[in-house]
Amino acid sequence: MSEGSSLIRGLEGVVAAETRLCDLDGKNGRLAYGGYDIEDLARQATFEEVAYLLWHGELPGKPQLDRFVSELISARSIPRELIEAFRLMPRSTDPMRALQAAVAILGMHDPDTTDNSHDANRRKAARVASQLAIAICAHHRVRGGQEPVTPAADLGHAANFLYMLTGVRPSATAAKAFDASLTLYAEHEMNASTFTTRVITSTQSDMHSAVAGGVGALKGPLHGGAGEAVMHTLLEIGEVASVERFTEDALRTKRRLMGFGHRVYRAGDPRAAILRGMAEEACRQSGQFKWFQISVTLHERISAAKGLIPNVDFYSAPLFYSLGIPVDLFTPVIAAGRIAGWTANIIEQHDDNRLIRPRGEYTGAGRRAFVPLARR
Ligand code: CMC
Repeated sequence: MSEGSSLIRGLEGVVAAETRLCDLDGKNGRLAYGGYDIEDLARQATFEEVAYLLWHGELPGKPQLDRFVSELISARSIPRELIEAFRLMPRSTDPMRALQAAVAILGMHDPDTTDNSHDANRRKAARVASQLAIAICAHHRVRGGQEPVTPAADLGHAANFLYMLTGVRPSATAAKAFDASLTLYAEHEMNASTFTTRVITSTQSDMHSAVAGGVGALKGPLHGGAGEAVMHTLLEIGEVASVERFTEDALRTKRRLMGFGHRVYRAGDPRAAILRGMAEEACRQSGQFKWFQISVTLHERISAAKGLIPNVDFYSAPLFYSLGIPVDLFTPVIAAGRIAGWTANIIEQHDDNRLIRPRGEYTGAGRRAFVPLARR
């Protein structure tokens, strides 16, 4: 029991850290990284520029960006042992579990692994961001009986990801849409996975341990796992004409509607609005407009009936699907974006650390006499 304090379920509204990274205005539905509006960053900056902003506090100029991109490209390789580990994993291993193991293995091979200094953390952030993308794609290829695709040094981070996934160079439109979605997922202050990385960091543990924990937290369907669940819902609905029946059943059975609702945003999630436009274009261009139409119809119907807002994971589902990303890679893709924010938060936490250690409200039995085993 914490003297004088009261339980706040789910830590709703609790301010757990100071941060210069992300300004989330839930009341007005606004989001900015380092002072820059998310819409400007998604439309006009690359994911590399956004990662630089999160790790350095400022957008890079051209020479800084060139050096930074070279650093990311030179980190585009993973240890042979990690690929061997992927081969030894059961074929049915879900990609987020494989990713969590991959991050731990990357930590075993990183030259700065236990160095928690600011400079070492910055170097590790760049390496782990590049390597996470490679690990996701390599595991996917290996589980399908294919060889991993060697990264292309002449492609940007987002385009290279799509290339490593399929072995085919993506169109400029697909690469831009994917790049913007990585930016939209890059950072979101004290969401559950970022908070997890902060808690682990606060014990003076290291970056890879914290990121592995973040992957575990992101996986759940109330967090990043919601995107996959949205796509399963859209596939279950199947046709625009079936949205009405689905909605009636969902409301009658009080079903939790994936991709709807948010702990902080009340008026709307600004990321969802941007992703909606990107999903519309990508679904049209890929000849799969039906998924966008089902999404919009479901959105309108659910918002009218329950007042729930679509969150970031709602329109990213038809977008990722139309980009050809397998449904069980939606959450790893979110991790590939959020890695920028996780690592930035880890750096911030290490730079000004105090152990995160809240209290619990005891609700068990009162004090009682111990009974030895023979008399129980
Ligand atoms: N479907 C049906 N009812 C909902 C939903 C939903 N998606 N979201 C909230 N509600 C209802 C809930 O039943 C509750 O009603 P009542 O007060 O009558 O019991 C009320 O709204 C408050 O819900 P809550 O679960 O206490 O709210 P929360 O702040 O704890 O949960 C949430 C937020 C995101 C977990 C929740 O909205 C949810 O489960 N959404 C679906 C999963 C999802 O899309 N998650 C992604 C979140 S955003 C991206 C990310 O974090 O990665």
